[in-house]
Amino acid sequence: MFWDQGRLKKLIEDRLSDFHVILVSNREPYMHVYKGGEVEIIMPASGMAIALDSLMQTTSGTWVAAGSGPADREACTHGDSLMVPPQDPKYKLRRLWLTRQEERDYYYGFSNQALWPLCHLAYIRPRFDPGQWETYKAVNRKFAEAVLSEVNEPQHTIVFIQDYHFALLPRLLKEAEPNLVVSQFWHIPWPNYEIFRICPWGREILDGLLGNDLLGFHLQYHCNNFFDTVDRTLEARVDMERFSVFRQEKETRVWPFPISIDFGRFETWARSPFTDALILELRHRLNLGGVKVGLGVDRLDYTKGIPERLEAINIFFRKYPQYQQRFIFIQLGPQSRLHIPSYKQLNALVDSWEEEINSQYAQGRWKPLILLKDHYTQEQVVAFYRLADIMLVNSLHDGMNLVAKEYVASRIDGGGALLLSPFTGASRELTSAYTVNPYNPEEIADTIFQALEDQPENKAARLAAMRAWVQEHNIFQWSARFLQALIHLPKED
Ligand code: G6P
Repeated sequence: MFWDQGRLKKLIEDRLSDFHVILVSNREPYMHVYKGGEVEIIMPASGMAIALDSLMQTTSGTWVAAGSGPADREACTHGDSLMVPPQDPKYKLRRLWLTRQEERDYYYGFSNQALWPLCHLAYIRPRFDPGQWETYKAVNRKFAEAVLSEVNEPQHTIVFIQDYHFALLPRLLKEAEPNLVVSQFWHIPWPNYEIFRICPWGREILDGLLGNDLLGFHLQYHCNNFFDTVDRTLEARVDMERFSVFRQEKETRVWPFPISIDFGRFETWARSPFTDALILELRHRLNLGGVKVGLGVDRLDYTKGIPERLEAINIFFRKYPQYQQRFIFIQLGPQSRLHIPSYKQLNALVDSWEEEINSQYAQGRWKPLILLKDHYTQEQVVAFYRLADIMLVNSLHDGMNLVAKEYVASRIDGGGALLLSPFTGASRELTSAYTVNPYNPEEIADTIFQALEDQPENKAARLAAMRAWVQEHNIFQWSARFLQALIHLPKED
C-alpha cells in the first residue's frame, strides 16, 4: 500500500499523538503580498516549502519561518502567527521578523554567498565574511528563541529543521533543552572534505549539526561526504555500522532520505478543469498552436544550468533548422536572491540569451524563446507541465530537484519527455529520463532532437516507469521514514 496523507496521519495518530512537531525553515510556506490594494496569499518558488506543506497539513504542528511577504505582519491573526492554509486551516505558521541587516548578512550573506556555493559545485567562489558569519550565528540564536517559545513539553516535542540556513540551531536547541528531539534535513548537497575545508568556520558548523539526533541528506553519497568531513575535522567517532557520529557520548544518526513530492496533489491539479482552461488560454496567448513545446522551470539560480540550456536551444535551431517555426521553448524563471551579484549577472545573461535567440530566429508570429519571470502558482505551473512535450532539467548540481518529479506527476496523459542532468539527486531515481550533461550544450541539443523524434511508445514507457516510482516514493513515504527513524531514538534524560 502506498503512503498517502491518510496513512501518514494514522502513523502520526498512533505513534506520535503525544508529540508536537515544530518545523523550522527560513522560507515560509505561505507569503502575504499586496495585489491591487488587496492582501493576497501566495506559495513561494521553493520546492522545499511546497513539499513540506503536505507533511505539516498532516501533523497539525507549528511551522516557524521568517516572514518575508510585504503584507505578512498585517495578515497575522494571533500575535506573530496565523493558521494555514487559509481556506482550510491545518497548522500554525509562526513568523519571525528579521531586520534588514540580518536579512542582508544572514540570508543574502552567509547562507547564500558562503554555504550555498560551498555545497554546490557550480564553480562560483564562496565568500566568507566574518561580519556575515556573526549575523548568521545571531539569527540562529534568534530562531532558537522563537522555537523554544513554542515548546511546552520538551520531551514531547520534535523539532524538524530545514536546510543550510540553520547549521548552528540544533546545538543551540539541545543545549537549552536536552530532552527535545532535534532533527534536520539538509536539502542541498554536502561537498567532499577538500571543498568543505576552505570554510573558516567549518568546525563550528559541524559541531552545530551534531546537535541533531537525526540528520538527513538526499543521498548516501552526501552522508559519506559528511562522515569523511567530520572524521577529518573534529574529535568524533564515525560509526559506519550504525551510520552515526558519536561526539562527547552523543549520537547523531546521519541517514539518506531522498525527498519527493505530493504525487496526488499534482495529479489532482493536472486533472482539474482550471488546468484544462489554462492550457487552452496559454496555447492561444503564447501562439503555441501546431508547435512542439519545450519547458524549463527554475528559480533563476546559477546552479540550474539555465544559460547552458539556452545555449543548447540556440545550437538546436541551428543544427536542426527543420524545427524552426515548429518548436518553442518556454522558460519560467522567477527571479531569486537578486541582491547577490552572481544572481544579478545570471539574470542579465539570461536576458541576453533571450535577445540573441529571438533576434536570430524569430519569424512572423513565431518566437522561438519565451521567457516568463513572473510568479506563477503551483497550479498554473502544472498547466505548463502538461503542455510541454520536452522538459529540461539540466542543473549543474542539485541536491534533488523536485521540478523533475513534479513534471512526471503532472503528465497524467502519459506523454512528454524528461531530459535530466546526472548531477541531480533525482537522476538516481528517475533512471528512465533522457540523460543530458549540462556542461555539453551540443549533447543537450541532440537529445532534444532525439526526444522529439522518439517513438511515442518509447516515451510513454519511460514516463510510466518514472510515474510509478514517484507515485510510490512520495512525500508521505519520505515523511513517514523520517519520523519512524526519529521515534526509535533513545530519548535523552
Ligand atoms: C532551495 C533551498 C530551499 C529554498 C529554495 C528557494 O531549494 O534548498 O531551502 O527555500 O531553494 O530559495 P529561497 O532562497 O528563495 O528560499
